[in-house]
Amino acid sequence: MEITMSVNGESCSAEVEARQLLVYFLREQLGLTGTVVGCDTSSCGACTVLLDGESVKSCTVLAVQADGHEVTTIEGIGANGDFHPVQQAFHAEHGLQCGYCTPGMVMATVSLLAENPSPTEAEIRHALEGNLCRCTGYQNIVKAVQAAAAA
Ligand code: FES
Ligand code: FES
Repeated sequence: MEITMSVNGESCSAEVEARQLLVYFLREQLGLTGTVVGCDTSSCGACTVLLDGESVKSCTVLAVQADGHEVTTIEGIGANGDFHPVQQAFHAEHGLQCGYCTPGMVMATVSLLAENPSPTEAEIRHALEGNLCRCTGYQNIVKAVQAAAAA
């Protein structure tokens, strides 16, 4: 099937199989490997991207479902090679260790702060509960989100 969508502000058209998942379309057909696969079963959130500004797990979305829509990946949020403020906050607050979960954490945070610019700690933990991290214990991730909200 032929699909057309905006990815990080650029229109892109491609031929995909109907069963192709959005995460593999982004990684394998567009080469946007910042969106990663942690589980493939909608549990970990590592594959989180924005679809029309809302965070979604791209392993649960078919590429054809994004046809005609706007997708933003981790590659699309910084400007001119600079970190996005949420990326800057994760860096400054040591909100990562191995970094595997980080693209998804950052995208989920971008979505959270767009909806709720001053979340409480409980709201942050609730918003990120679909994003798993095996390294950090979450404490510095929460601090990073708080720092991004205050920036
Ligand atoms: S790879 Fe999508 S939720 Fe884990
Ligand atoms: S930093 Fe390693 S999984 Fe989160």
